[in-house]
Amino acid sequence: MRQKPSLFTLVLWIALAGCAVGIVLLAPGALDAYGDLTLEQNATPTPTADIRSVLLVTVDPANTPAPTAQVLKPGVKGDEVTRMQTKLKELGYYTGEVDGQYGQGTAQAVKLFQAQQGLTADGLAGTDTLTALYGGAAQTYIPTPSPSPTPSMLSKGDQGDAVRSLQQRLKDLGYYAGSVDGDYGGGTQEAVRLFQSQNDLEVDGVCGSATMAAVFASNAPPVTVTPTPDPASLPILVNRDHPVSVDYKPDDLVLLRNALPASLVYVKGSEIEGDKTAVAALQEMFEAAQADGITGFQISAGYRSYAYQEELFNKQVAAYLEDGRTKSSAISATRQTVADPGTSEHHTGLAFDITVADTIFKGTKQQIWLHKNCWDYGFIVRYQEGKEAITGFVAEAWHIRYVGVTHSTVMRDRNWCLEEYLEAMGGAV
Ligand code: DAL
Ligand code: ZN
Repeated sequence: MRQKPSLFTLVLWIALAGCAVGIVLLAPGALDAYGDLTLEQNATPTPTADIRSVLLVTVDPANTPAPTAQVLKPGVKGDEVTRMQTKLKELGYYTGEVDGQYGQGTAQAVKLFQAQQGLTADGLAGTDTLTALYGGAAQTYIPTPSPSPTPSMLSKGDQGDAVRSLQQRLKDLGYYAGSVDGDYGGGTQEAVRLFQSQNDLEVDGVCGSATMAAVFASNAPPVTVTPTPDPASLPILVNRDHPVSVDYKPDDLVLLRNALPASLVYVKGSEIEGDKTAVAALQEMFEAAQADGITGFQISAGYRSYAYQEELFNKQVAAYLEDGRTKSSAISATRQTVADPGTSEHHTGLAFDITVADTIFKGTKQQIWLHKNCWDYGFIVRYQEGKEAITGFVAEAWHIRYVGVTHSTVMRDRNWCLEEYLEAMGGAV
């Protein structure tokens, strides 16, 4: 049987109701605040799966209730603020203490983050801001650039404060990793080249007025990091330290005279072969040259066997001996221009010597076109001036090597020879 409420229970109920009315009368703000919070929570869009999982990751299931999507703003305290401060600090926006209290410093950091991400910079961290912050695309903080330096043109060899601020800016944007020392050396030049290549500017490593303006523009984009290619997809390296075996023979050789139309390019030797893919790229490249009005190329060399390279090497040694050199001098002089058998790139079927009949190739319009454009077809100018100590050969204007366009364009933009590129990509050098 249900019992009637006792007198004591009734008195208790009346007292409790009185207290509640008292609280509302004495502290109307408390109810307002409650109302605001309710409105804000209702107004906040349903969190995306992303943010929800992001929030869930941090929840300690033992003591923390399920998270709600709320706008974090000045005055808010707690774990979500700690988490946000930690992330903002990690990205370089927040320099204050990670204390879980959303104060003015935190609001300022949120504003900086929002501005850089293209969000409304109101200093309130709602769903959009938190999603951007915890998502994979959150950028690190890039300080606002100081005004671009004068002079407006800087290049290798320049020194001083203007170079220092250029280096600092390129460093902030992630293009430069060297020290900010005011010396425009090779590293700075490389950073400028990288910036230019990623920002549709002429890639020459010189910081002229167009590059300077783009580097110091307030919306200059941070570096795009190209993922390191799979080592298995890196180009084969054949040099003095990486010889091929005596019986090495590439799989897909085709006869150049059969594969390339005679109207497009003259192949000097009916037996010259080359790798099928590389020969297809040669065709595309010579067609582009023809479209630009540049013809008259000839191909003087392609695939070479070990035995053939040996023959070439010995012939050159013999020529030097006839000139009166000693044997060791003849051999070392030969090594400057003819690779020892086994160490020539021509063994791969991927290297070709491009010339013009009856003339020195260097300085011809064909050579100039080739050096400017071959990269777009997957070829590199393999032995360049300034890289002799790395490649082991004097510069050869005529020798190009097929590596594929994903690699060749990076080597062009970074001014890397094959050895430097492979080293940068973590390959075996
Ligand atoms: N002339 C180049 C280096 C070769 O012999 O392969
Ligand atoms: Zn060659």
